[in-house]
Amino acid sequence: MAEPILPGPLAVRVRAPAKINLTLRVGPARPDGFHPLATVYQAVSLYEEVIAMPAEPGVIDIRVSGEGADQVPADDRNLAHRAAALLARRTGMSLGVRLSINKSVPVAAGLAGGSADAAATLLACSVLWELDLDHEELLPLAAELGSDVPFALLGGTAVGSGRGEAVAPALARGSYHWVLAFADGGLSTPAVYRRYDELGPTPPEPFEVSAGLMNALRSGDARRLGPELINDLQAPALDLMPSLRKLVALAEEYQALGVVVSGSGPTVAFLVESEADAVDLTVALSGSGLCRSARYVTGPVQGARVLGV
Ligand code: C5P
Repeated sequence: MAEPILPGPLAVRVRAPAKINLTLRVGPARPDGFHPLATVYQAVSLYEEVIAMPAEPGVIDIRVSGEGADQVPADDRNLAHRAAALLARRTGMSLGVRLSINKSVPVAAGLAGGSADAAATLLACSVLWELDLDHEELLPLAAELGSDVPFALLGGTAVGSGRGEAVAPALARGSYHWVLAFADGGLSTPAVYRRYDELGPTPPEPFEVSAGLMNALRSGDARRLGPELINDLQAPALDLMPSLRKLVALAEEYQALGVVVSGSGPTVAFLVESEADAVDLTVALSGSGLCRSARYVTGPVQGARVLGV
């Protein structure tokens, strides 16, 4: 019979948001293979939920349920598994953890669902193991795990640099209405970056976040933000999944304020003026036959946070 394991909490429930990239400018590949980025992230109201429970020393056990769970490995290929292992190693923690991941963010969608799982796991394990680490202390570990993990901890609207892992909050007003169209199937992030290299990056475009985008965010005016949305990975994503072109083209037909492929795709994010417009567009996209489903979300929202202990 197993012994009682520890005196800490019996379960810690954390949620972390999906992200979209309002701008994603990509520079030429670095010697380590990663591409330098100038990006603006926004966290949106689509969440991964992770519950961490005590387990025997050394054990990291993962159960995955929800959206796309059958495509997610439950072993050490899972970023949440690696997050728990990294935190344990760095803090000398010998206790184990049982993780229950409930997914709402589609897999390989350009929305950083796996990164949200990792961010939520860092925070959940930190509380479960009573390590008492705050977001600031978790950020360097998050950066080791993946380019999008620090932003999933931070949330809000933020400028990302380096390979995406260096994040700084951006001055942004207001709340924005988005409709996310989930394509049939996913795109592999490394494959999209490879295609980007093959197609040839398109300088002389400046490899930086435009002043126009930052000013639009400061004004809180969605009408000004719409034309500023830009993603250098959109061309390679459309090249790998040509059916996305028709989906993107619907923005004009439905008079969205702006449209952009999120991250490495294939999710397409439509910016609209109001909740009513978002509901109309969600219905239209869902019935278009051009995507698997569509979902209304708002942004910015908070990063990873504890819902209950
Ligand atoms: O950091 P992350 O694990 O999310 O990156 C996944 C892959 O995407 C990398 O292995 C790399 O091929 C590509 N990538 C890149 N440049 C970035 C971020 C990711 O080339 N800035």
